[in-house]
Amino acid sequence: MRLLVCGGAGFIGSAFARQRVREHGDEIVVLDKLTYAGREENLRDLRAEPGFSFRRGAIEDAAAVAEAIAGADAVVNFAAETHVDRSIAEPDAFVDTNGRGTYVLLEAARERGLRHVQVSTDEVYGSIEEGTFTEESPLAPSSPYSASKAGADLLVSSYFHTFGTETLIVRGSNNYGPYQYPEKLIPLMVLNALAGDPLPVYGDGMNVRNWIYVEDFARAIGTVLERGEPGEVYNAGGPDECPNLEVVHAILRHTGRDESLIEFVTDRPGHDRRYSLSSEKVRGLGWEPRVRFDEGLERTVAWYRDNAWWWEPIRSGEYREYYERQYGRVLRVKGDRT
Ligand code: NAD
Ligand code: TYD
Repeated sequence: MRLLVCGGAGFIGSAFARQRVREHGDEIVVLDKLTYAGREENLRDLRAEPGFSFRRGAIEDAAAVAEAIAGADAVVNFAAETHVDRSIAEPDAFVDTNGRGTYVLLEAARERGLRHVQVSTDEVYGSIEEGTFTEESPLAPSSPYSASKAGADLLVSSYFHTFGTETLIVRGSNNYGPYQYPEKLIPLMVLNALAGDPLPVYGDGMNVRNWIYVEDFARAIGTVLERGEPGEVYNAGGPDECPNLEVVHAILRHTGRDESLIEFVTDRPGHDRRYSLSSEKVRGLGWEPRVRFDEGLERTVAWYRDNAWWWEPIRSGEYREYYERQYGRVLRVKGDRT
């Protein structure tokens, strides 16, 4: 297949591109704006692969999309502003990229009769105290991030109903694994633990997330791309749920640190208590998750420990300023005594 992968320089998009090139021999064009979260380093090992190319550009730029989409059989859209805390501090870019950007891609797919796979999130359903969300659950997003993703999902579905565009939506639960930008819980805590920085736990630490290893989610997206029914939504949740505090304790164990690093900090406004996703429908297409949380977390900690080349420039760059704004503290850098 020839795929336009938007947002392919980010965490999940790069894992998907790697999987499709290596395991399926697909031809891939990545279109990515390279925001703070998008990094060409994430695709470093794919550069030399035949059939792989990278273009810098924004999905809300129709001319850039028209150039990148030439020759594609399908579009897979990962491009988004993705961090809840940033959406609370500065929602602007969330509306532009997640909303208008998705619209520009849908128009391009409609004009050319292409399949459009939208990568979405369980956060569009809001929080669930007990039980599990299915594809039939109502959308009740809580944050500007999840609201902008829900808006995009509705627009995607409207292109199927109104124009017959072959749209599909895959909603994933919380991903973790290599190459995740350290603003998110797991890499943030791993890098802080490795550096000896405090681990900032929001609220009482008992919020629950449903963790999925990034390669499992990437495979679910590939399954839906190949075998999904146009117009349908598919949830892809991980095999395990875990309260944040347990995640943090496991990270302390894997990094050889003790609990004294834990620091309870002011809760996130509107913080969703629990996410939980039923994946029966995508299992019906032959997908299942392969990596349990214990194993995936150990692998992830090992990857960050062994790949300082990847995160050191991040931790001393834009992320450092973001961290100071968000947490009111300065991060340690290499050479500081722990
Ligand atoms: P990420 O923040 O790591 O990467 C996002 C990528 O999109 C970056 O490469 C960035 O440069 C690019 N991008 C941002 N704005 C753009 C624009 N206007 N035009 C082109 N490119 C742009 O995000 P991620 O964690 O890899 O998430 C990818 C997708 O999966 C998102 O749509 C997100 O909503 C969804 N998702 C993420 C998770 C998760 O746990 N991370 C879970 C479920 C769904
Ligand atoms: P996050 O990785 O931001 O993903 P999301 O909010 O989209 O699920 O956060 C995961 C959980 O970890 C969430 O309950 C908020 C919590 N959290 C902290 O306790 N401290 C932190 O510094 C961060 C970033 C998140």
